[in-house]
Amino acid sequence: MIVTVTANPALDVTYSVKTLTPNTTHRVIETHEQAGGKGVNVSRVLTALGRRTTAVLPLAGANGIAVQDDLKRAGVTHCVVPGGGPTRRTIAVAADDDVTMLNEPGAAPDDGWWHTLTGVVHGLLPGAQVLVVSGSLPAGLPPSAYRALVVLAHQRGLPVILDSDGLPLTAALDARPTLVKPNGAELLAATGLTDPLEAARALKDLGAQSVIASLGPDGILAVTPDGTWRACLPASFTIRGNPTGAGDAAVASLAAALADAVPWPLALADAVALSAATVAAPYAGRFDRDLHQALLPAVHIEAL
Ligand SMILES: Nc1ncnc2c1ncn2[C@@H]1O[C@H](COP(=O)(O)OP(=O)(O)OP(=O)(O)O)[C@@H](O)[C@H]1O
Ligand SMILES: [Mg+2]
Repeated sequence: MIVTVTANPALDVTYSVKTLTPNTTHRVIETHEQAGGKGVNVSRVLTALGRRTTAVLPLAGANGIAVQDDLKRAGVTHCVVPGGGPTRRTIAVAADDDVTMLNEPGAAPDDGWWHTLTGVVHGLLPGAQVLVVSGSLPAGLPPSAYRALVVLAHQRGLPVILDSDGLPLTAALDARPTLVKPNGAELLAATGLTDPLEAARALKDLGAQSVIASLGPDGILAVTPDGTWRACLPASFTIRGNPTGAGDAAVASLAAALADAVPWPLALADAVALSAATVAAPYAGRFDRDLHQALLPAVHIEAL
């Protein structure tokens, strides 16, 4: 079982419009609502892949009820941590193959809430193969909060994937997370370096055991103890759609690969194919199954 932690989940609302023009009024073609947050997306993808997963998350208020209803509809096993602040919303405006995001920050949880969350995770770890910790921290929590979850997983001998950015990421590195998955902007923000390979190596030097950097359409750069690889689709493959959550699909694939001890080149090929198939699906955490399988043999892996 793969346990995901989403400390700051959201009700994701997507408005589809034809073209987005600032300072004008738009007719919304379609409104879509679903449970959101990075760990939730990871669990949704894992569920669709037929993997056992439990999503740990706080939920409260009307948005929290809507999130839980959607998780039930999607068959995503979840465990609600009581004491969180009212669940936030994210608003995506999808137009012309482009997405504009408005992310509410999320309310501060009750005192002692993090302790409750840690207890819930601790209780799930004996049945877990991998812990995935994703996304931002809600207001009021110290940046070292994720570091404590990395330590907790390691105490049980479990691999842990950390997909966060800024201080919650960098403050956890010396606890040696098994894998971190920054995107290009997160790499730059964490290291101040513009070259992705240099930046990924720098994060590894700071303590991450493996750094799997996702670079949007340019695929994945992996710096691991066993080698360094670049994995991407050939330039002739153009995948259009909604890239939101593509990184979460890559994390889902990598978590499954860690659980099954899959060799890196195969793991990276699947992460690239699955995340690209997620871009082709309209909403985060969904993917086109046929495209996933069709893309897999096309992924180009280069050892650096
Ligand atoms: N346009 C695209 N075409 C093909 N593959 C893509 C495209 N965009 C993203 N991907 C795939 O998805 C992976 C993750 O994308 P990206 O680097 O944008 O993640 P991210 O910014 O962490 O996303 P999120 O945090 O929204 O889940 C990439 O490494 C790549 O394999
Ligand atoms: Mg991401």
